[in-house]
Amino acid sequence: MPGIPEEKIEEIRSSINIVHYISQFVNLKKTGQNYKGLCPFHTEKTPSFIVNPEKQIFKCFGCGKGGNIYTFIMDYEKHSFVDAVKKAADFAGISLPVTEQSAKEINYFQKLYQINENACEFFEDILYKPKNEEQLNYFLKRNISEKTIKAFRLGYAPDSYDQLLGRLKNSVLDLQEAAKLGLIQEKEDKGKFYDKFRHRVMFPFQNVSGKIIGFGGRKLREEQQPKYLNSPESPVYKKGKILYGLHQAVNSIRENGFVIIVEGYFDLLRLVEEGIKNTAATSGTSLTEEQAKLLRRYTKDIYIAYDGDSAGIKAAIRNAQIIEKYDMNAFIISLPEQDDPDSFVLNNGLAAFKELLKEKTLPIDFQINAFLNTNKNPSIEQKDSFIQEILSSLLEMRNQIKTGLYIHQLAERLQINESLLINQINSLKRQKYRSFRSKNKAGEEVSSTVKRRVHSGIYEAEKGLIGLLLNSTQEIQNYIIANVSYELFENEQLLHIYEFIMQELEEVGKIDLGKIMQSFQEDEESNKVISEIAVNDYINEMKFAKDCIFQLKKWDLEKKAQDISSLIKTEDSSTESILHYTQQLTEVRKEINQLVRIHRGILKI
Ligand code: CTP
Ligand code: MN
Repeated sequence: MPGIPEEKIEEIRSSINIVHYISQFVNLKKTGQNYKGLCPFHTEKTPSFIVNPEKQIFKCFGCGKGGNIYTFIMDYEKHSFVDAVKKAADFAGISLPVTEQSAKEINYFQKLYQINENACEFFEDILYKPKNEEQLNYFLKRNISEKTIKAFRLGYAPDSYDQLLGRLKNSVLDLQEAAKLGLIQEKEDKGKFYDKFRHRVMFPFQNVSGKIIGFGGRKLREEQQPKYLNSPESPVYKKGKILYGLHQAVNSIRENGFVIIVEGYFDLLRLVEEGIKNTAATSGTSLTEEQAKLLRRYTKDIYIAYDGDSAGIKAAIRNAQIIEKYDMNAFIISLPEQDDPDSFVLNNGLAAFKELLKEKTLPIDFQINAFLNTNKNPSIEQKDSFIQEILSSLLEMRNQIKTGLYIHQLAERLQINESLLINQINSLKRQKYRSFRSKNKAGEEVSSTVKRRVHSGIYEAEKGLIGLLLNSTQEIQNYIIANVSYELFENEQLLHIYEFIMQELEEVGKIDLGKIMQSFQEDEESNKVISEIAVNDYINEMKFAKDCIFQLKKWDLEKKAQDISSLIKTEDSSTESILHYTQQLTEVRKEINQLVRIHRGILKI
């Protein structure tokens, strides 16, 4: 964590009683060991939100949110992690040490923000100079009102090589830093600079808290290149990690319960101008995972309103995949081919756009529509390759119920037998799983998200083992460590948690629940699961540990058997290989038998 030492973060956390902290916002009543109240994260009539003073965590059994004091401050009070620690430190009356390093870092960032702020004010001021009436009119002609210009701090970079430079010289000590931010460029003649943005209308980029981190500038003359000139990445601006307009949209996203993402700056401004404020722009590229996670802080429902052209359609589909990978909900708004949201609203009016919002489609339907539109009478080959493409994208999806729904939809609309599709996807999963497992065993980094059909017994067993590690005797812990290998874990998220715990045990020799939550604080889903496991007192018995391990081992062998059976079924297998596989299958079945007998105590080991 930049700036605040780990021990300090721990000290602050352990000196606050989470019950006291949350009581500021939620009326909590003691019930048994826990405190209960109405969940502040969703609307409910009967309390399902509990705070556990012993473990210092909160958990809602209604909406699933959970975590420690920092998670609470981040999610409820909408702070970054560092600010949450500061807030907690304040509450605890602990003063934060400002290390030399962190003070430097903070100052450095402040300095960069300050330079950008200076430039932003310059571009804003100059837009209103009488001689720049034409540029102000550019916005007004595009139906962007002064109110919106002010709210988004739009401006104008004059047709000059030294006006911004002049302003910066007066207020900025370090021109090299301004050059790093891409505002000015150093000449070959060192120590001399010139303005980078010239004769462009300016769109400042703000981070969620409103600080200016960079700029986009649109050309005003046909021959200028490029159409949009954007700031380079810098310590304060990381492309792909921010969304244009999100700072202004946050409240409206919360109120409406969804966000609309668009491609362009003007698309966003158009919608805001029309009163649709829950909008953010990806600035011409498809959504990144970082941006998806950023949006997830505010809502799970993402409407994608991309340009109607083929590039827009492709990007929309890609976005939907990323959104669903994080178990959020994607809806696609289809625009006519020649339109972007800006032109659509200008040509057809707000009501027509609202109609489009109502007609939002699920990504699968959108994809099928796009396919059937371009292939009026698809051949078998075309259908086949389309289905393969969809199925492999479904592999990435986190939500299994939705996967099932999508397959159903696909079967129905393309008139294919549904069970064929299910077989197909299961076989793809197995293939992927095999490569995942072999990679995993070879100790390489595992990056693929591999998921099989959900098997709730297995999921529960995995959670049980983690629960026991968190909360059981040394003997049981040792037994688990000795008997469970990483490959036994089916659920990737639980695997990460398990790996983290193992690493802690190796390095520190003990498990600290607070620290675990800490390290998963960026990941809301993991926090939910960890808090759920932590509040669920798993039966602290060796028998339970053995049951869980038995389940996982048995399932592992059953998967092996399934894989072999499907190989045998492949038509082109030669008799020789069929014989080989059949023998293998017999071996695996024997292993399963033996495992069951040992578990039932019939066989002693
Ligand atoms: N973009 C960019 N750099 C470019 C072109 C585009 O960063 N050279 C980004 C901008 O964020 C732009 C978005 O991609 O807003 C969409 O591009 P485009 O559709 O070409 O522009 P519009 O937003 O429609 O702009 P306008 O309506 O002014 O033509
Ligand atoms: Mn446009």
